[in-house]
Amino acid sequence: MGLPAAVRDRVAAVHRGSALPDRLRLYDGWAARYEQDVAALEYRAPHLAAASLAFAFPAPHAEARLLDVACGTGLVARELHRRGFRCLHGVDGSAPPLSRAGTGRGEPRRVPPVTPCVLAEHYDAVTLVGALGEGQVPSTVLPELLRVTRPGGFLCLTTRSNPSNLRYKAELEAALGQLERSGAWQKLLAQEVEYWERAVTEEESTQGNGYISGVVYIYQKCPVPHLEEG
Ligand SMILES: C[S@@+](CC[C@H](N)C(=O)[O-])C[C@H]1O[C@@H](n2cnc3c(N)ncnc32)[C@H](O)[C@@H]1O
Repeated sequence: MGLPAAVRDRVAAVHRGSALPDRLRLYDGWAARYEQDVAALEYRAPHLAAASLAFAFPAPHAEARLLDVACGTGLVARELHRRGFRCLHGVDGSAPPLSRAGTGRGEPRRVPPVTPCVLAEHYDAVTLVGALGEGQVPSTVLPELLRVTRPGGFLCLTTRSNPSNLRYKAELEAALGQLERSGAWQKLLAQEVEYWERAVTEEESTQGNGYISGVVYIYQKCPVPHLEEG
């Protein structure tokens, strides 16, 4: 069954190359329909990321402090809540999706406006799902994600392998590898998933099967403080 044309248009609009402020405005306008549209898209990233993190993360989960970056409407936090995580904070560059999160069980509470140093090494795990992609969150964010994660804590990241995101994905993987070589973190998982979400155009279908593939990465921050070179 094909995707409804209106869903295809809304998804295609946020996938199309545009400057970040314009793209965030598209997310502002998409917030009310986001969850029903991504259900039609068979968007599995929140489920896959939460399952991978819960598997890697030593129990118990309830007291662990988690930060969901680019949390949108809170789909990742809801999946984590189902797996026993209870202390969930979220941030997003677009206010309307964030205001829809935090209104029910298992949804992230908005991170209060605190000075950045307060958050240093504060979180047991940080997630960034569905937003590490061309025109969204740049890979230069990685050191900041590491900074707010406690030594020994976990980072769960995702990206997509559709043709228009391959250049970004290569840059991201270079940055991930560089941080691993410098001793900042250790890779625990890089899981390629074929049926990540439905493609909205033929050209974006990774294997010509109507779907985009994607990757879940899990990293563990090294317990020894990372010393910058130079
Ligand atoms: C595809 S949605 C994913 C939301 C949620 N993580 C999920 O999986 O449902 C991407 C989210 O990233 C946010 N976003 C994209 N680029 C951003 C940036 N540079 N800074 C902050 N938020 C950003 C958007 O506002 C949007 O809510």
